[in-house]
Amino acid sequence: MPKRDRYLFVCTNRRPDGNPKGSCAQSGSEELLAALKAAVVTNKLQAVSRPCGASCLDVCWEGPVVAVMPDDVFLGRVTKDDIPAIIEALAQRDVKVSEHPKLRDKVLSRGQFDDPALVKLGVKKGD
Ligand code: FES
Repeated sequence: MPKRDRYLFVCTNRRPDGNPKGSCAQSGSEELLAALKAAVVTNKLQAVSRPCGASCLDVCWEGPVVAVMPDDVFLGRVTKDDIPAIIEALAQRDVKVSEHPKLRDKVLSRGQFDDPALVKLGVKKGD
Protein backbone atom coordinates (compact mmCIF):
# COMPACT_ATOMS: atom_id res chain seq x y z
CA MET A 1 0.00 0.00 0.00
CA PRO A 2 1.46 3.39 -0.94
CA LYS A 3 1.92 6.22 1.52
CA ARG A 4 -1.45 7.89 2.00
CA ASP A 5 -2.10 11.62 1.72
CA ARG A 6 -3.54 11.68 5.22
CA TYR A 7 -3.45 9.64 8.40
CA LEU A 8 -6.14 10.12 11.03
CA PHE A 9 -4.95 9.10 14.48
CA VAL A 10 -7.99 8.47 16.64
CA CYS A 11 -7.14 8.32 20.34
CA THR A 12 -8.56 5.08 21.70
CA ASN A 13 -6.91 5.33 25.10
CA ARG A 14 -9.06 3.94 27.90
CA ARG A 15 -8.52 4.75 31.56
CA PRO A 16 -10.19 2.90 34.41
CA ASP A 17 -13.67 4.07 35.35
CA GLY A 18 -13.52 6.78 37.95
CA ASN A 19 -10.22 8.25 36.75
CA PRO A 20 -10.77 12.02 36.90
CA LYS A 21 -8.99 12.55 33.59
CA GLY A 22 -11.50 10.38 31.74
CA SER A 23 -10.45 9.08 28.34
CA CYS A 24 -11.41 9.18 24.72
CA ALA A 25 -12.54 5.54 24.73
CA GLN A 26 -15.02 6.39 27.49
CA SER A 27 -16.29 9.16 25.18
CA GLY A 28 -16.91 6.75 22.30
CA SER A 29 -13.67 6.89 20.32
CA GLU A 30 -13.48 3.13 19.67
CA GLU A 31 -16.86 3.23 17.94
CA LEU A 32 -15.80 6.43 16.17
CA LEU A 33 -12.65 4.76 14.81
CA ALA A 34 -14.62 1.73 13.56
CA ALA A 35 -17.19 3.97 11.85
CA LEU A 36 -14.48 6.15 10.32
CA LYS A 37 -12.65 3.12 8.94
CA ALA A 38 -15.89 1.82 7.44
CA ALA A 39 -16.71 5.21 5.90
CA VAL A 40 -13.25 5.43 4.31
CA VAL A 41 -13.78 2.03 2.70
CA THR A 42 -17.38 2.81 1.63
CA ASN A 43 -16.18 6.00 -0.02
CA LYS A 44 -13.20 4.25 -1.63
CA LEU A 45 -10.68 6.54 0.03
CA GLN A 46 -8.44 3.86 1.50
CA ALA A 47 -5.70 4.56 -1.07
CA VAL A 48 -5.42 8.17 0.14
CA SER A 49 -6.57 8.12 3.78
CA ARG A 50 -5.85 5.83 6.73
CA PRO A 51 -7.66 6.02 10.07
CA CYS A 52 -5.57 4.41 12.86
CA GLY A 53 -5.96 3.93 16.58
CA ALA A 54 -3.61 5.95 18.75
CA SER A 55 -2.74 6.10 22.41
CA CYS A 56 -3.34 9.24 24.47
CA LEU A 57 -2.72 12.46 22.53
CA ASP A 58 -2.65 14.42 25.80
CA VAL A 59 -5.78 16.47 25.19
CA CYS A 60 -8.11 14.12 27.08
CA TRP A 61 -10.58 16.83 28.16
CA GLU A 62 -11.42 17.45 24.47
CA GLY A 63 -12.04 13.82 23.55
CA PRO A 64 -12.66 12.03 21.39
CA VAL A 65 -9.58 13.52 19.73
CA VAL A 66 -8.44 12.91 16.15
CA ALA A 67 -5.03 14.08 14.92
CA VAL A 68 -4.95 14.60 11.16
CA MET A 69 -1.49 14.36 9.65
CA PRO A 70 0.27 15.85 7.78
CA ASP A 71 -2.34 18.61 8.10
CA ASP A 72 -1.06 19.13 11.67
CA VAL A 73 -4.65 19.52 12.85
CA PHE A 74 -6.20 18.14 16.02
CA LEU A 75 -9.99 17.79 16.10
CA GLY A 76 -11.77 17.61 19.43
CA ARG A 77 -15.13 16.30 20.61
CA VAL A 78 -15.47 14.38 17.36
CA THR A 79 -18.62 12.30 16.98
CA LYS A 80 -19.99 9.96 14.34
CA ASP A 81 -22.05 12.93 13.10
CA ASP A 82 -18.77 14.54 11.96
CA ILE A 83 -17.80 11.63 9.73
CA PRO A 84 -19.59 12.87 6.57
CA ALA A 85 -17.71 16.18 6.77
CA ILE A 86 -14.42 14.38 7.44
CA ILE A 87 -15.00 12.15 4.42
CA GLU A 88 -15.81 15.19 2.24
CA ALA A 89 -12.61 16.84 3.43
CA LEU A 90 -10.51 13.71 2.78
CA ALA A 91 -11.90 13.49 -0.75
CA GLN A 92 -10.58 17.00 -1.45
CA ARG A 93 -6.95 16.01 -1.45
CA ASP A 94 -5.53 19.52 -1.80
CA VAL A 95 -7.63 21.10 0.98
CA LYS A 96 -6.83 20.82 4.69
CA VAL A 97 -9.40 19.02 6.81
CA SER A 98 -9.56 22.09 9.06
CA GLU A 99 -10.88 24.15 6.15
CA HIS A 100 -14.13 22.21 5.88
CA PRO A 101 -16.87 24.59 7.13
CA LYS A 102 -18.47 21.89 9.29
CA LEU A 103 -15.18 21.02 10.99
CA ARG A 104 -13.78 24.45 11.82
CA ASP A 105 -15.35 24.47 15.28
CA LYS A 106 -13.73 21.09 16.00
CA VAL A 107 -10.17 22.31 15.41
CA LEU A 108 -8.30 22.59 18.71
CA SER A 109 -6.40 25.79 19.38
CA ARG A 110 -3.08 25.86 21.27
CA GLY A 111 -4.82 26.99 24.44
CA GLN A 112 -7.06 23.93 24.44
CA PHE A 113 -3.97 21.77 24.97
CA ASP A 114 -3.51 23.22 28.48
CA ASP A 115 -4.93 20.86 31.08
CA PRO A 116 -7.88 22.74 32.64
CA ALA A 117 -7.17 21.11 36.02
CA LEU A 118 -3.64 22.53 36.00
CA VAL A 119 -4.78 25.89 34.67
CA LYS A 120 -7.29 26.04 37.57
CA LEU A 121 -4.37 25.51 39.96
CA GLY A 122 -2.34 28.19 38.23
CA VAL A 123 0.12 25.63 36.84
CA LYS A 124 0.66 25.51 33.10
CA LYS A 125 2.13 22.62 31.15
CA GLY A 126 5.90 22.79 30.98
CA ASP A 127 6.13 24.71 34.27
S1 FES B 1 -7.34 9.90 26.40
FE1 FES B 1 -7.54 10.67 24.39
S2 FES B 1 -6.26 12.40 24.35
FE2 FES B 1 -5.91 11.48 26.28
